[in-house]
Formats: sequence, structure tokens, C-alpha cells
Amino acid sequence: MLTVNRRHSIHKQFQATRDRQICRAWRVERHDKTGRQHRSARWVLAITGLRKPTCTGRMIKKCSLAVIGKVSAPASRIQEKKKKPSFLHSNFGSMYEYIACYAKNFKLSPPFSVDVTTAGKKYPLNNSGNSLSTLLFPSGSVTFSKKNETYYPCDMSEGNILTELLDKVQVVEYKNVNEFRLKGEFRYSQSRLNEIIESNDVLTITKSPFRPNHVRSGGEIKKMHNHLSPSTYNVGTNEDASSELEEILGGDFFDNPKPFSLVSTLCKAVTHDDLNSVVFDFFSGSGTTAHAVMELNAEDGGNRQSISVQLPEKLEENSEAYKAGYRTIADITRARIEKVIAKLKAEHPEKTEGLACANFTLAPSNFKVWNSDISDPGAIRQQLDALQNTEKHADEQTAMLTELLLKNGLGALGVHAVSKPRKLACGVTVHRVLREDDRYLWLCFEPYVDALRDEIVSASPAQVIMLNSCFVGTQGDEQLSNLQLELAAQDINLLVI
Ligand SMILES: C[S@@+](CC[C@H](N)C(=O)[O-])C[C@H]1O[C@@H](n2cnc3c(N)ncnc32)[C@H](O)[C@@H]1O
Repeated sequence: MLTVNRRHSIHKQFQATRDRQICRAWRVERHDKTGRQHRSARWVLAITGLRKPTCTGRMIKKCSLAVIGKVSAPASRIQEKKKKPSFLHSNFGSMYEYIACYAKNFKLSPPFSVDVTTAGKKYPLNNSGNSLSTLLFPSGSVTFSKKNETYYPCDMSEGNILTELLDKVQVVEYKNVNEFRLKGEFRYSQSRLNEIIESNDVLTITKSPFRPNHVRSGGEIKKMHNHLSPSTYNVGTNEDASSELEEILGGDFFDNPKPFSLVSTLCKAVTHDDLNSVVFDFFSGSGTTAHAVMELNAEDGGNRQSISVQLPEKLEENSEAYKAGYRTIADITRARIEKVIAKLKAEHPEKTEGLACANFTLAPSNFKVWNSDISDPGAIRQQLDALQNTEKHADEQTAMLTELLLKNGLGALGVHAVSKPRKLACGVTVHRVLREDDRYLWLCFEPYVDALRDEIVSASPAQVIMLNSCFVGTQGDEQLSNLQLELAAQDINLLVI
């Protein structure tokens, strides 16, 4: 699972045909505000399903290198995979497996978190065993339980807790009117205490002997710990995953699915700071990640997108899945995604208007590319002729659209456009992509008609991409020239390929 901040773009050599999925060799890059391109530091990768922890580092590095370049050492999380141990191992009953989590740079990645701190939770300042120090509490910084009271310097130690009040404290209207010092074994340094006071968190002392508490205002990120089990994060086991999948697809069609709750917890943990993230799973199997992303969005109103990659690995002819009509694992991935979309659309019609999925198969480019290696005049002439129409299959609109979008750095946004084409009043179908600057990009591959120009002008998208072959017939060149002039006058960029 790779999460991608939405500002990032994904491109290079994604070649798609209309029909079915799969992509390979994605290079993931990001553009910063200056437009400079650089490798992102924030890719987070979590791969589930590692069976041999000893060889996973190398294995995963190999796969992730293909995708994101050099990666730093992984952090690992431990998943309780079974409720009852498996005794296949000669020495132990095995109950756990490991999940490797990669970040290009962990320092720049937000912590894994599925929770925030609770408002009003008290944290004692005393921490027996820490070294002795003296803390200064400025006037008015502590809230006392007594309205008005005076306390005198004295030893306030009890049992293992060492505390000495070094100054007289006068409390008026629940606050200390003067500053005072406490000596003891404290959790915080003076500078941390000052930060707490400045942040307007509350410090309380309820009685004598003084045991100050820091009362958190709450809402801060709570860092997740690395044991994922039914008892820690209410995460299911692999046994649960099989029955979940059986419930969705109606049969035991896939070995080693991951439990929905585990993947959902991981997705939530890595996208909590950006609900517009793109979650990328390049070993998607039964499609648990895409399922988790869609459910999370329905739950918290997020707009995460998900890209699932699965090899069209052939199913055994005697398998249950084959008998049910599936031919490859990729068929199972798609089937689950489609079923979940249908279920969510029925359950939450108001939240799922834009929910859609497009499938692609990796294939050679839909566009012919100039070959600069040839020098023979005859061959060059032949190539020139061939490139009169740059696209190979004029009917493969969706595939061309996707390729163009990816090459324009609009991959994830583009997939949405692919799945929602729009037929205009003039009868021409266009694909629309809402860009980051809130303006539209239109793509059109159908024959040009004059009424299309009027519709473009009235909608005023930022850019229009069309194919050379949209301008056909004797009027073609003239139509193109006029369209170019007209759109330029309206400040609409026209790109003809
Ligand atoms: C353990 S499964 C993933 C399970 C998935 N998380 C789920 O919940 O269903 C691993 C998947 O990776 C796929 N796979 C294995 N080697 C691959 C490769 N070299 N490239 C792409 N996919 C691969 C397999 O087909 C399998 O579906």
C-alpha cells in the first residue's frame, strides 16, 4: 500500500487499453509549488502478507525500488494473524506475521495514527525514579481546588514520591498569585513546562501534598503502537478475512486475503493528515485495500482515491473461483471492487455520487512515437506518413484518455474522468477533469462539430485536448484553425495531438 499525497502527480509510461487493468513500472514523482520536480519524501508503503520475515527486507526493497526508488529501512508492525496458533513450525506455534512499513523519509512522514488524545485527560508531573529537579510555576499558572488558601514551604514527600515545596504559595480565586518552586522527580523539564503553560493547557493541584497534573486539551495525534490484533485495534485475523470475502463474493475464491479491519486501520493510520490521499496497492489480491478506502470515505467523508494493481495470474481450472467464472486473480479484484461500489451506492446514495472505478490493462502506448534512430530517407518518409494520425486506435478513447492524463501528470484525477464521460448537447462526448486550480481540463476524441466550439466557449475550461483526427473531411484544417483562434481569444488553451 502506497499512499500518495494528492498534490503529487503520477506519470510516465502508463499505457492502457480500454479493457482491463494493471500497470507496471510507475515512476512516482512530485512537483512542489515552484513546479520543480523531485522525488517525494512522503511515500508510505505498507505491504501485507509477508510470510518469511527473514527475507522480507530484500524482497520488499526489490519491489519498492521499482516503484519509488531507494527507500530507507522499514519499520515493522506485527499482526496477530490467527486466533489459534499454527503448529507447522517445529519449535513454536505461530500466531503473528510482520507488516513492513516503508517511508521514503520517516522524519517527514506523519506518525501512524487512528486516534486523537482525549480532552481533559490528566498526566501527573511527578514521575518517581526520574532525576531530581526544580520546577518554577509562574504566578497564575496553576489552578487549585481550593478557592483561597496559603501553603508554606515544606517537604511533601510520601512513599516513593519525592516533592518539596520551596516557596510560600498564596491562592486567590483558585490561582497562585505568586510564582513558586517545587523540587521533585518530574516527568517534564522546565522548558516543556513553559511550553505547556504557553499553550494554555491547564495545570492543576487538587490538595496538599502537591501532586501537580497536566490536563491536556485533547485532539492531538495519538501515535499508534505496533501490535495489531483483535485486542489492541480491534483488528481481525486472517481467518476473518476469508469469511469476509466469502460473504462478499459468495465463495472461497482467494487464498490469503487480509482482514478488512486490518487494512482499513492501516489506511486510516497513514491518511489521517490528508483525507484526499491516493492509496496505492500494487499487490491487491482480493481488493481489500480498495474496499477499505471506499468504506473509510463513506465513514468520515474523506475523498481518498485508490489505485489497485494485480497481475492477471491465472486461476487453477479445478479451483472454486474458476468454477464460479473467474479466470484470473485480477477478475476477483475487480469483482470485489464492483460489489463494494454497488453496496455503498445502495447504502449511502448521498455520499457516493462520485464513486466509480475504471479498469486498465498494461499495454503498449496508444500513440505512435517518433523513432529518431532511423536515417534512411525512405523510412523517414514512411514514418512521417504514419504519424499523420498519431493515435493507433481511434476507438480506444478511454485508453487514450488515460494515457494522456497520466502523461500530463493527472493520473488519479484522470481515472475519475474516465469513469464519467459526458455527452454534450451537440452530441459530442467529452471527459472532464477538475484540476487542482479548480478549473476544468476537457478531453475530446470524437469528430469535431461547430456546435462543440460554442459549448467549449460557454463552459470556459482552462484547457482542451483533442486529437488531430477529430478534424476530418475537407473542412478539417479550416475548422481546426478557426477553433484555435477562437479559443485563444477566450484564453482557453487548446492542445491538438
Ligand atoms: C497476499 S496477496 C495480497 C492480498 C491482499 N492484500 C488481499 O487482502 O486480498 C499477494 C498478491 O500479490 C500478487 N503478486 C505476487 N507477485 C506479484 C508481482 N511480482 N507483481 C504483481 N503482483 C504480484 C499475487 O497475485 C497476490 O494476489
